[in-house]
Amino acid sequence: MVRSGDAVRTRRHYLMCPPTYFAVEYAINPWMDPAAGVDRARAIRQWEGLRDLYRSLGHRVSEITPIDGLPDMVFAANGALVVDGRVYGARFASAERTPEGPAYLDWFRQAGFTETREPKHVNEGEGDFITLDEVVLAATGFRTEAAAHQEAERFLGRPVITLQLVDPRFYHLDTALFALSGARVAYYPGAFSEGSRRVLASLFPDALLATEEDAAVLGLNAVCDGSDVVIAAEAVALAGRLRDLGYRVHPVELDELRKAGGGAKCCTLEIRDARD
Ligand code: ARG
Repeated sequence: MVRSGDAVRTRRHYLMCPPTYFAVEYAINPWMDPAAGVDRARAIRQWEGLRDLYRSLGHRVSEITPIDGLPDMVFAANGALVVDGRVYGARFASAERTPEGPAYLDWFRQAGFTETREPKHVNEGEGDFITLDEVVLAATGFRTEAAAHQEAERFLGRPVITLQLVDPRFYHLDTALFALSGARVAYYPGAFSEGSRRVLASLFPDALLATEEDAAVLGLNAVCDGSDVVIAAEAVALAGRLRDLGYRVHPVELDELRKAGGGAKCCTLEIRDARD
């Protein structure tokens, strides 16, 4: 643990997937335009910058071998949900990404994780599940089925709170909300149904509320270890507010990956291993 002011930084273990085969070949969210083309070499440089930043902050980064033909596999957050060393596998909503589920589960089994679950219900891993100290927040609306929330709750033994996403630009929970600590979050209210906004307001009265401008550059697809926040370089206003709250902010350029609808958090699957 590293203390800086009030904030407590804990060393994290992240799983990432190099964008060796990154492309935008299909459109499964409004950010993706197969006609626009991507600069893969640039995507790789940006991704390596993110990985090296995590390492420079003292975090451990493991890498899964990318698979040719799975251009979205770089978005490791969708590969699983790992809590207390228990690995709840992903089951993708789209046919294009379906093979990623077993590929990520295999990685965990080979890494020695024995408590793994092949899911019955559609869920896109940490993209739609955000783990806090007391509860796991989970979204439905575009990808993950509400039935998967219960499945995860039973498998992980942690209470899961269902939230409803309503804006197709923010199709995964991690595009609309991120954890500043185990008890504090930042989010864009407009991404959620009215009922879910009320749930969030009552659970997190001290939440940092982001603007639509912050959200529209995927500024909420950020990663915070308790004191340091890794965030899209374009989310200038949100970064300023985080600095005012005492966080150390690390802007990252990931615009090439944003062409597929992903940012820093999407590239990062946290391994919450009971053994660490
Ligand atoms: N193109 C990918 C998809 O639509 C992007 C996934 C982004 N991942 C995330 N955790 N939000 O599935």
